[in-house]
Amino acid sequence: MKIHKPVKLAPSILTADFGHLADQIAAADRGGADYIHLDVMDGCFVPNISFGPLLVKAVRNMTALPLDVHLMIDEPDRYLKEFADAGADIITVHAEATVHLHRTLQLITALGCKVGVAINPATSVEAIHEVLAVVDQVLVMTVNPGFGAQRFIETMTAKIRRMRRLMDELCPLGDLQVDGGIHVANIVDVVDSGANVIVVGSAVFNDKATPDVNLAQLRAQLHEDL
Ligand code: DX5
Ligand code: ZN
Repeated sequence: MKIHKPVKLAPSILTADFGHLADQIAAADRGGADYIHLDVMDGCFVPNISFGPLLVKAVRNMTALPLDVHLMIDEPDRYLKEFADAGADIITVHAEATVHLHRTLQLITALGCKVGVAINPATSVEAIHEVLAVVDQVLVMTVNPGFGAQRFIETMTAKIRRMRRLMDELCPLGDLQVDGGIHVANIVDVVDSGANVIVVGSAVFNDKATPDVNLAQLRAQLHEDL
């Protein structure tokens, strides 16, 4: 069953100016952001360290937008409650980061958060076949996770299409989120391929324009091509 879903933009604060984070988030909100995407990195699951529940809690007090928390950490079960208590609305874990993925996803639901599962570029869509029935969102990584401002991996476009086809069968109401290397030049392609939640980091938080202006350009691109 194919359901038309509105496109949501989820700015990732990873490349934001942390010295003026409240202003940056307010500008993203003004620019029409649907979520704030928070990239949590532990230096083990990915080769970078970013921030933890304390920053999620601080951002919670900056905005009423849904907080879309992307856990790029090993054994995420250990911290799910802390991120839920910090104010996460959606918690996405990597299929590659936990041995008992189905139980991890159930724990997120039990905490009252929407549940997402993420797959790295090398992980097949089939790898999460058995958990599609219990998720609200699937995140298809379009870069190898760990850093902002990377190049979109072109072969992920076909993977997004395959993921949407499988979700139409097993998770028709679920959101298909894509994350990494997305900007005005390729956002229409990823939406045409079936993604409806688009993470945009360096395309929004950069020194070319303010976050609200950058978001308006991304939105305009989508309206121009629909
Ligand atoms: C990468 C993160 C992405 C990244 C997106 O590991 O999960 O959310 O911050 O940044 P851009 O849009 O600049 O690739
Ligand atoms: Zn992310």
